[in-house]
Amino acid sequence: MDRIRIVGGQRLNGTIPISGAKNATLPLMIASLLTDQPLVLENVPRLADVIQLQRILGNHGVDVMINGKRPGDDPNAGRTITLSARTIVDTTAPYELVSKMRASFWVVAPLLARMGEAKVSLPGGCAIGTRPVDLLIMALEKLGAEIEIDAGYVIARARNGLRGGEIVFPKVTVGGTHTALMAAVLAKGTTVIDNAAREPEVTDVADCLNKMGAKIAGAGTSRIVVEGVARLNGARHSVLPDRIETGTYAMAVAMTGGDVLLQNTRPDLLQSALDVLEQTGVTVTPTNEGIRVARNGAGISAVDVTTQPFPGFPTDLQAQFMALMTKAKGTSRITETIFENRFMHVQELSRLGARIKLSGDTATIEGVERLKGAPVMATDLRASVSLVIAGLAAEGETMVNRVYHLDRGFEKLEEKLAACGAAIERISE
Ligand code: UD1
Repeated sequence: MDRIRIVGGQRLNGTIPISGAKNATLPLMIASLLTDQPLVLENVPRLADVIQLQRILGNHGVDVMINGKRPGDDPNAGRTITLSARTIVDTTAPYELVSKMRASFWVVAPLLARMGEAKVSLPGGCAIGTRPVDLLIMALEKLGAEIEIDAGYVIARARNGLRGGEIVFPKVTVGGTHTALMAAVLAKGTTVIDNAAREPEVTDVADCLNKMGAKIAGAGTSRIVVEGVARLNGARHSVLPDRIETGTYAMAVAMTGGDVLLQNTRPDLLQSALDVLEQTGVTVTPTNEGIRVARNGAGISAVDVTTQPFPGFPTDLQAQFMALMTKAKGTSRITETIFENRFMHVQELSRLGARIKLSGDTATIEGVERLKGAPVMATDLRASVSLVIAGLAAEGETMVNRVYHLDRGFEKLEEKLAACGAAIERISE
């Protein structure tokens, strides 16, 4: 199993190209199930999750073609993939495939909307809490689906097609909103989604669906209105920049000091996180090319953070921010409101010398002068990268084990950091 070796203490200077967003790519790929015409996606990141989803979609009959590179193409540009779901050959998503990636459960909505039936394995628990799908099922029921749960599978039927309805989410759910959208676009009549997730990835998916002929208004607000249409067409869509990758590298620069241009990304995708970083003493400058992040000389100030749905501080940057706070001057409190059990990184950060106390949903971090390298273990995607950030500023060697989590969500992580002066390498075994 691959490991990542880091020798801390180098400042980061240079340019980091930001990839297309994983969390938009996955639902966009799933949206290809809604049409028998090709969907072309540009700026697709090279990630293990994308490859896994290709397999899952292939099982339903989707033909996935990855366009080759031409001489002279930018080596950092994302890939273009063409997905053609001309015929759906199977409406079942089996346990073996769904259990490897939670988001693959979302195929339930387009399969149901287009084929009138879907049988999809329940994703099961995962490392960051129970993560149920009750609200996704509720949304489908509101659109007229009959749902049965049998032997670990959700069996959804709508023999006469879905019909528009009113969906009010009792809590903000990204997956629930994607599900509601993908079901409603082909339903008869109007659907209103209230308390919808406002995450930029939801807006990106809605934009793509509208290019495919859907009639969606209000994406990006908490009330989305969908007029169902009889069928959707193919389209071409470029995936928006990854705000979590952007924020992760911004925090890495904050941690080590230095000056880095995060290229091909936009500040509006993560304004709350950038505001927090500025409070810690980092200079954030939007430019035509992206976002410049710099910290020179001054130390890191302690800032309290509470995770919130967009536009609040994202839960997917919580672990990375905690890594940064381990070296702050003073004490900070981080409250996690989205997921229970999303503090697995605390123990591993402590191995590097961090002083963190946990009480319920709040971590109290007492900044220390120095971290010291150690072997650590990655437990989930965002936790893993927080260990990398801490390792970049720790004295001596940090070895991050179980890096397959990183490959699920971060494209060319060690290459991007090494290009800015980090002493980081992958050790393949
Ligand atoms: C997505 C993101 C993930 C991010 C999360 C929150 C993708 C592929 N993943 O995950 O990176 O951390 O949004 O921004 O886009 N909930 C229920 N019942 C449900 C569904 C959700 O109670 O049926 C709860 C969850 O347990 C959680 C909260 O709602 O407490 C938010 O979860 P949700 O927004 O649905 O997360 P995901 O879509 O799974």
